[in-house]
Amino acid sequence: MGLLNEFSEDYVNMENIAKWFSKGEGYMKLMTEYRCAMMEVETKLNVLNAEFSLQYDRNPFEQIETRLKNPISIIEKMCRKNIDISLENMEKEIFDIAGIRVVCSFKEDIYMLADMLTAQDDISLIERKDYIEFPKKNGYRSLHLILDVPIFLSNCKKYMKVEVQFRTIAMDFWASLEHKLKYKKEISNAEEISARLKNCADTLAVMDNEMQEIRHEIDLAGEL
Ligand code: GTP
Ligand code: MG
Repeated sequence: MGLLNEFSEDYVNMENIAKWFSKGEGYMKLMTEYRCAMMEVETKLNVLNAEFSLQYDRNPFEQIETRLKNPISIIEKMCRKNIDISLENMEKEIFDIAGIRVVCSFKEDIYMLADMLTAQDDISLIERKDYIEFPKKNGYRSLHLILDVPIFLSNCKKYMKVEVQFRTIAMDFWASLEHKLKYKKEISNAEEISARLKNCADTLAVMDNEMQEIRHEIDLAGEL
C-alpha cells in the first residue's frame, strides 16, 4: 500500500472499505461497547478530580476529552499494520479505538492520576508508555496507558480496551501544533523545522518543571 495521500486511489479505496466495514453487522454494537468503556474511565477520572479538589482545593486536571476512532482511521491503521480487516481483529489488535485525553497543569498530577486509576481493582493495565520520562526523538511528551475495563451488559460482563493519554497544558499545546504542522504541504527545510520544534518541546519541558517548583514553594509558604 502506498502513501495515503488524500487524492490517491489508495485513499478512495480505503474510504470505500471503511464505508463497507462500518455498515457491517456488529460494528455499531462494538462501537457502543467502546463508548461505554470510555464513559466508565471518564467517570472514574472525574470522580478522582472531584474528590481531590474537595480535599486540596485544586483540580489535578484542567480538561478531559474523549473520542472514538473513526472507520477510516481504523481501516488505515489495520492496513498499515498488515492486519486482515475484521471486527475480531480490530478488537484484538487495535487498542486506541476508545481514546481519552487528560490535560493536567502539573507533571506530578499526571503520575498521581495514572497511579490512582491503575490501582482500581476492576482495571487492568495492558501497556504503559512514558514519553515524559523518555520523550520521542521529535520532542513529543505524554504518558500513554492502555487499560482493560469491564463493562456490564444486560447478560454479560465484557472487557474493553481504552487508551488514556495524559499531558500537561504545555505538552498538549506543543502536540496539537506539531500535529497540525505535520500535515502541511511538503517543505524544503523540513529538517530545520523539526529541530526548532524539538527545541520548543525542550523549552516547554523546562517551563513545566519550573512551574511545578513554583507551586511547591507557594504550597510550602502557605503551610508556614
Ligand atoms: P500507533 O498507535 O499504531 O500509531 O502506534 P503506537 O501505539 O506506537 O503509538 P503511540 O502509542 O506512540 O502514540 C499514539 C498516539 O499518540 C497518536 O495517535 C497521537 O495521538 C499521539 N502521538 C504519538 N506520537 C506523537 C507525535 O510525535 N506528535 C503528536 N502530535 N502526537 C503523537
Ligand atoms: Mg498506540
